[in-house]
Amino acid sequence: MTRLFPDLSTDALMQRATSHYTPNYRPSAVVLSRGEGVWVWDRDGKRYLDMVAGIAVNALGHAHPRMVRAIREQAESIIHCSNLYFNEPAVALMDMLTKHTFADRVFFANSGAEANEAALKLARRYRTVVKGQPKRTDVLAFHKSFHGRTFATISATGQPKYQKGFEPLMPTFHFADFGDLASVEEVLASAKGNIGTVLIEPIQCEGGLNMPPDGFLRGLRALCDKQDMLLVYDEVQTGVGRTGEWFYNEVDAVRPDIMSSAKGLGGGVPLGAMLATEEAAQAFVPGTHASTFGGNPLATRAGYEVMKVIEEGELLQHVYDVGEELGAQLDALAEKHSEHCVEARGIGLLRGLELSDASGETAKRIVAGCVERGMLMNAIQGRVLRFVPPLIIESGHVRAAMEILDDVLAGL
Ligand SMILES: Cc1ncc(COP(=O)(O)O)c(C=O)c1O
Repeated sequence: MTRLFPDLSTDALMQRATSHYTPNYRPSAVVLSRGEGVWVWDRDGKRYLDMVAGIAVNALGHAHPRMVRAIREQAESIIHCSNLYFNEPAVALMDMLTKHTFADRVFFANSGAEANEAALKLARRYRTVVKGQPKRTDVLAFHKSFHGRTFATISATGQPKYQKGFEPLMPTFHFADFGDLASVEEVLASAKGNIGTVLIEPIQCEGGLNMPPDGFLRGLRALCDKQDMLLVYDEVQTGVGRTGEWFYNEVDAVRPDIMSSAKGLGGGVPLGAMLATEEAAQAFVPGTHASTFGGNPLATRAGYEVMKVIEEGELLQHVYDVGEELGAQLDALAEKHSEHCVEARGIGLLRGLELSDASGETAKRIVAGCVERGMLMNAIQGRVLRFVPPLIIESGHVRAAMEILDDVLAGL
């Protein structure tokens, strides 16, 4: 492996980064340099069990031989060609996505926020042009949601902390309480018919791993049908096998009209996608939306390989099984350390452990304690420990992770 800074100490390297990056991140004092499977190593050779997976991204873990081969082969053939021409990897991934989801059509983007932007633009144009309803351009979104960091997606995000200082936001979003159909109906009524689209994360991830109550999403679909509204699912974090299904909408058989995907889709290569039914997709015609890199052969070849490996290896069942083990062990730890823990929740390999200390201090100490003992994990909202390991994680790794967590909780 080529070392780019052979003469620089790790402290000096981190100092260099913090001196010249824009100051919007607060990374742990770890410089990662390589990975293999569920393990990563820092530049000084320390090994960590990776329960973060690049924030639910490295679906097949690190340096998966199939991914490495696919990316290398693709890089040797053609990396980029733009949407002025067709390319085979993008068509192959499009085939996979339409085969394994409700969608008839796919638009490729490079991130979750971009996939959501595409979804919001498609929904807007569906109203104004296809339906001829320029007054129904408003969108119902949810408190505690997270949809990305562009202007439209922070406007759609129901958490003031992401919006503060960036006002004025897009005024077309209205917010209801997640899991509460009465709140949805109230917001719809107060918007006086201006809402034509509902945008939702079926599980609120960054908002604290909030699970939808039974029947809520089905009720929302019924409301959308009744009031002729498009239902847009943000499955950026819940998709590509993470919940034990290809996408969460299959778990409770609710079919959205539009869906965004990213994170695990490229297995670590930047890739997003907006998926839509034929009916919704007709709102885009040539020239209405585009992305220079979207559908790039390198990224889509990676995405195709991710989906192919999941398909061939029957990984969805594996995610379900090992996810149940992780869930059960988190439940046991929540009970054992009840002075620090409220509850464990989640599905598949999307799991959280809520702490009683909402100040963020306990979470910070636990995350740091895990790093010290060789495990990467992070906290959302300062109080929910999040576990989103690679989908290939095995029972033994889960046990090792829980032993570390047990030890750290016991030492608080
Ligand atoms: C549900 C959801 N939507 C959108 C995004 C934004 O994705 P990206 O950071 O790739 O733009 C995220 C990122 O955490 C997410 O969890």
